[in-house]
Amino acid sequence: MTSEYFGSILDRRLSRRNFLASSSAAAAVSALPSIAFSAVNKTPVQKAVATAIEPTRVDAITLAAGLRSDLLIRAGDALFDGVAALDGKAMQSLSWLDEGAAARQEKLFGTNNDALAFFPIGDRASSGVLCVNHEYVMADLSFAEWPKAGPNRAAERQAWIKKRPQAVAWMQAAHGVSVIEIERASKGWKTRSGGRLTRRITANTPMEICGPARGHELMRTNADPSGTVALGTFANCAGGKTPWGTYLTAEENIQDYFGSAKSWSDATNDSATVEAHRRWPLRERSAYGWDLVDSRFDVRKEPREPLRHGWIVEIDPQQPTAPPKKRTALGRFCHEGANTILTRDGRVAAYMGDDAKFEYVYKFVSRDRYNPADRTANLDLLDHGTLYVARFDASGQGVWLPLVHDENGPLNSRNGFSSQAEVVIKCRAAADLLGATPMDRPEDVEPSPITGHVYMALTKNDERQNASKTFNGRTVNLGPNAANPRPQNDFGHIVELIEEKSDAASTRFTWNLFLLAGDPRLTDAKFITDVSTIEAGGLAREDLYYAGYSDRAKVSPIACPDNLGFDPTGRLWVVTDADTGLIGNNGCYVVPTSGPDRGYLRQVVSAPIGAEICGCEFTPDGRTLFLSIQHPGEGGSVDAPISHWPDGGDLPARSAVIAISREDGTPL
Ligand code: FEO
Ligand code: CA
Ligand code: CA
Repeated sequence: MTSEYFGSILDRRLSRRNFLASSSAAAAVSALPSIAFSAVNKTPVQKAVATAIEPTRVDAITLAAGLRSDLLIRAGDALFDGVAALDGKAMQSLSWLDEGAAARQEKLFGTNNDALAFFPIGDRASSGVLCVNHEYVMADLSFAEWPKAGPNRAAERQAWIKKRPQAVAWMQAAHGVSVIEIERASKGWKTRSGGRLTRRITANTPMEICGPARGHELMRTNADPSGTVALGTFANCAGGKTPWGTYLTAEENIQDYFGSAKSWSDATNDSATVEAHRRWPLRERSAYGWDLVDSRFDVRKEPREPLRHGWIVEIDPQQPTAPPKKRTALGRFCHEGANTILTRDGRVAAYMGDDAKFEYVYKFVSRDRYNPADRTANLDLLDHGTLYVARFDASGQGVWLPLVHDENGPLNSRNGFSSQAEVVIKCRAAADLLGATPMDRPEDVEPSPITGHVYMALTKNDERQNASKTFNGRTVNLGPNAANPRPQNDFGHIVELIEEKSDAASTRFTWNLFLLAGDPRLTDAKFITDVSTIEAGGLAREDLYYAGYSDRAKVSPIACPDNLGFDPTGRLWVVTDADTGLIGNNGCYVVPTSGPDRGYLRQVVSAPIGAEICGCEFTPDGRTLFLSIQHPGEGGSVDAPISHWPDGGDLPARSAVIAISREDGTPL
């Protein structure tokens, strides 16, 4: 940590808003947060990478000079000995989709890999456990003869599913989480087939409902009248890990999995359940057709089943038979991820985004302290604590508003919150009442393990415009605000949050814009270098800001920041999920957050056609960066492919995990 670093940050904030008294500035310099995991260099130098690549539209992994990429595992690869991988040739027809497909898939790597979390085994940097989310299945890229277009497409898809009900069981088995053992190889990394800790968790794996919502009436179904055991996890997007070495997987777009919601709500007199669904509307026609063959996903049959999803789920990779636990104290919303850090007094804080337009940023702080000497004592820390939602004020300050049931406050019975269970189940509605700031799709919210400063990716929001209207069950001002200042925010942005006293337990913070993403090559785009000139609504869609970096010719174009990660020196790594029309294929970028190169963002990886990049997970030695290449070939189909990555030839595209390293083996 250099004084120059703090100088540059504080100068920017002081000149911008004049809100920070010099005394608290001094406190911020002297009081650093605890570091949650791994041995890190206490005086890191954040260097800029020497070279960058231009955006591409090629069907390949493109790398900056000096980097290499090795394939680790693909969708359909076998996780256990004696199990056959899904064959690429077979995927060009439906020959593989027989009655045994689901049972086989339970032993294979799932589809659409998203979050990655690496847990070293022992003290060795050469082997570990990788936890991987399998967010969803793209029928277009999985099923030959899938009805792709046409006016009767929806009905034809329903008929396709009903004719092949085994497709639903297979999709359920392809969702969830893979826990795999991996080790360094002579080139890159390889999986260890059938390792002791290897595990597949699917959309049908029993898991325990923990925390304040456990057993609540709204969590009870016909199949589980106790409201304590849910089946499965699905729509698992980003993730995170705890200081005690467990994996946090985030249930995001669960609304896509349920059908007949309007038919149910039109007919029911169960107003309590209707109200519980108000801020997270379900669909009449599900996206995946599971409700057509599995009544658990038919809202008319099990109207409360959706309330048992949309949580953060904790998985212990060291205990392959322990049930995953849904941690309801962390609230129910479109969870993108949960990234943890210790507070100054040794409790754990988890930062979380609700990835939907005009939704909020959250933080959970545990009641009890993390005990580094007793792992077992930490395993239920996430069941007790305080959930907060963020309000970003135009002054550059902000407040964490406690989402706590209180008969004397707004979260009381009169307003529909008669217990903490109802607060966490109807979390979005509770946050509305407290006046949280509606954001531009909060994705990863990640604290730097070096500084404790928190970075949040606001991926995009094309409906940010000057209007007030009903949106997802409540009336909200859709206009630009200080923390979301661009109208029609197609390119997305990143906000930097600094907790008061550099303590993750604080209820007050200051914040800065860190990045307004876009394309600096566009001559009409204004390249802003002085953050104090940015006013909400005073910008055009294309205007840019790179944390004050002044040379627009040197920085890379970037659109739709999604997942974030830090290397051991504290540089921020950003991966994207944008439409290719904006910049080109999605990419991986690195940007220093401190020093003279703060904001010098450069692209180092480009994805194949149609893929988003997720994951962004480093080994503790900083030598390997694991990336998820999700849905290569999106926009095409099995029958009319637009990508053949990673296998090439005429083989179908499939999602896969890659390991990025330097050719010379030094840290990235
Ligand atoms: Fe699944 Fe928010 O991306
Ligand atoms: Ca994501
Ligand atoms: Ca992350």
